[in-house]
Amino acid sequence: MQAMARSHPNIALIKYWGKRDTTKNLPAVDSLSLTLGGLWTKMKIDLSLNLDRDELIINGVIDEPNLLRVSQCLDLVIGKNRKFAKIISECNFPISAGLASSSSSFSALVVAANAAMKKESNTQLLAAQAGTISGSAARSILGGIVELNNISNTIRIKQLSNATRWPLSVVIAITDKNKKNISSSQAMNLSSRSSPFYSAWIKNQSPDMKEARLAVKNKDFDKLAAVSEHNCLKMHSVMWTTKPSVVYWNAATLNCMHAIRDLQQIGEPVFFTMDAGPQIKAVCLPENETRIIKRLTEIDGVVSIMKSGLGEAPTSSADL
Ligand code: PMV
Repeated sequence: MQAMARSHPNIALIKYWGKRDTTKNLPAVDSLSLTLGGLWTKMKIDLSLNLDRDELIINGVIDEPNLLRVSQCLDLVIGKNRKFAKIISECNFPISAGLASSSSSFSALVVAANAAMKKESNTQLLAAQAGTISGSAARSILGGIVELNNISNTIRIKQLSNATRWPLSVVIAITDKNKKNISSSQAMNLSSRSSPFYSAWIKNQSPDMKEARLAVKNKDFDKLAAVSEHNCLKMHSVMWTTKPSVVYWNAATLNCMHAIRDLQQIGEPVFFTMDAGPQIKAVCLPENETRIIKRLTEIDGVVSIMKSGLGEAPTSSADL
């Protein structure tokens, strides 16, 4: 009746933006991501307390805004006739700020709930459960470099490279620690209804996936860099042309992008990606990490820097 799980967030290089089914929360496009070993969420669940409602504590503070989604996730994994739970979540990075905290949180919650109920769920079922609550969370069920595919009325995840086969580093420049104004779910639904670029975005995803998959297979950094930046900028173009416009960047985000472009000019293997938030993720090789950190630290508006290598799949322990 109790369990704990620890899971890592992931950042997409080939992004998911838009849903093909809002009820089942199925993504409109395939995606490809890096699981970030240096960042984590620990999720503890206790179903033995005879509570009269679910209780959620995030980083030591009682949380109401996220409780509904957490309860829905538990209903899905355990069933609606379940006991109420106390859920304690701890995270070593800012939440709801475009650092994919929903991916580590909901993958950890799904794994913890399955462990508490002693359910032997396979990887694909865990991914489907996590993905029903947060599309990106499905990819955190595996470590390394992960691909998510749409299969008729569900999804399938696949590990393309484990955490050690091609060790990549990710330097994260935090440019704003505040929560974002609009959630990715709300924003992508608006995009699909109003951006004139949305249909082109959907149509062009599969060539990007093909190129990125091949780059991972061949450990071709330059090819992965080119397709990842292109895909990221296409997603943000869809956001910018949404009505009303969705702009997650700030001035420091743009300054970091320029700094990364300058580093590329002098032959540094590095590329950027941004999600639904103003933080910049610079993907590089481990031997270049120190130089990238140094350059991004100098930029006005960069509040702090985090770094991460690739991480493993979630872990759990039952009967605490
Ligand atoms: O899973 P959500 O609802 O947090 O949406 C994630 C969307 C992006 O992070 C912007 C892209 C992605 O593929 O992770």
